[in-house]
Amino acid sequence: MFIKNNGSMTPQLIDQFNRKIDYIRLSVTDRCDFRCIYCMSEKMEFMPRKDLLTLEELQRLAEVFIRLGVKKIRITGGEPLVRKDIDQLFLNLGKNPQLKELTLTTNASQLKKKAPMLIAAGVKRINISLDSLNAINFKKMTRIGELNAVLEGIHFARQLGFQKIKLNCVLMRGINDHEIYDLVNYALDHYFDISFIEEMPLGNVAHERTHTFVSNDEVLEKLKSHYTLNSTTLSTGGPAKYWHVEDSQTNIGLISPHSHNFCESCNRVRISCKGELYLCLGQEDKIELLPLLRNHPYDDEPLIKGILDALKNKPKSHEFEIHKKSPAVIRFMSHTGG
Ligand code: 5AD
Ligand code: SF4
Repeated sequence: MFIKNNGSMTPQLIDQFNRKIDYIRLSVTDRCDFRCIYCMSEKMEFMPRKDLLTLEELQRLAEVFIRLGVKKIRITGGEPLVRKDIDQLFLNLGKNPQLKELTLTTNASQLKKKAPMLIAAGVKRINISLDSLNAINFKKMTRIGELNAVLEGIHFARQLGFQKIKLNCVLMRGINDHEIYDLVNYALDHYFDISFIEEMPLGNVAHERTHTFVSNDEVLEKLKSHYTLNSTTLSTGGPAKYWHVEDSQTNIGLISPHSHNFCESCNRVRISCKGELYLCLGQEDKIELLPLLRNHPYDDEPLIKGILDALKNKPKSHEFEIHKKSPAVIRFMSHTGG
C-alpha cells in the first residue's frame, strides 16, 4: 500500500489482514542488571556485541520505520538504560518531528542517572517493571536487583514530571501474588497506572510455569472485590484491557497475552537487538534486517523492500499455551524486547 507523502509515493506498513503498523518496539540490548526469574535464567549468556545493532544502525532503522509511517517507538531490552551509548539514540530520535511518541520500558535501576536525559529527549511516558514492594521478595524475583535504588529512581522520575508513569507487574503464584493490593495501593498513592501482565512462556526459565501462572481472570476478581472499577475503552492496540479505579487517577491494565481476541487490532512489530524483525511476539516468523543494513550502507531500498515483504507474512494471531511442557517460543523476552 502506498500513500502520498510530500509529493512522493511512500509505502505504508499495512499487512494482509489490513492492520496498519504504526508502532515498533525496538530492543537495544539483551543485557540487564537484573535477572528476573520469569524473564531470564540465572546464568544468562548474552550476545557478543558485534552481533548487536550499532547506535548508527538503530538510528537508521528507526528512521526508515518512521518514513514508513511509524508514529510510536518504544525502546526496550533487556534494560535499555544499561546500554552505554543509549543517550544519543533517545536525543536523536526525540528530534524527529514525524515521531509522535518516544517511550521506553525500564526496570528503573538507572533512572536516577538517566531521567533528566529522557526528559530532554521529549519522553513523556515511561513503563517501569515493578513486581514487588518488599525488599526480600524483590531480590527473590530479580535475583540481583535492589528495591531501594528502584524506588528512588521512580520517585525522582515522578518529581521530574513525566506525563504518566505506568508500572508493569508479573504476578507469580506463591511468590508475589499476595502483594497485589500493596502494588495497586502504591500506584494509587502516586497517581501511576499499573498493568498486570500474565507470565508468558518465553525462554527456558528455572521454574515450572504451570505452578506460578496467575491468570488475569483471577486478578480481576480480586481487584473487583477491593476497588470500584469502571470499564474503559482505552486501547493501545495491544493485548491490554484497562479499568479505571473510581475517584483516582489510576488505570489498571490487564495484559492477557493468552487470549487471542486482541490479535485482530495488533498494530505493532518488534525488532530484536540483533536486528531481527519479529512480526508477532508469540510466533517465530522473523526476518534479519542486519545484513540489509550492513550490506547496503548507503541505500535504504533493500531494507524497505525486506520490511514490506516481511509484513506480508505477519501472522493472524499468536499461539501461546502456558500448559505446554516446553516454551511456545524458545527466545527470551530480553532478546526480542518486551
Ligand atoms: N512473561 C511476561 N512478562 C515478561 N516480561 C519479561 N519476561 C516476561 C515473561 N516471560 C516483562 C517484564 C517487563 C517487560 C519488559 O516484559 O515484566 O515489564
Ligand atoms: Fe531485566 Fe526486565 Fe528481564 Fe527483569 S524483566 S531481567 S528487568 S529485562
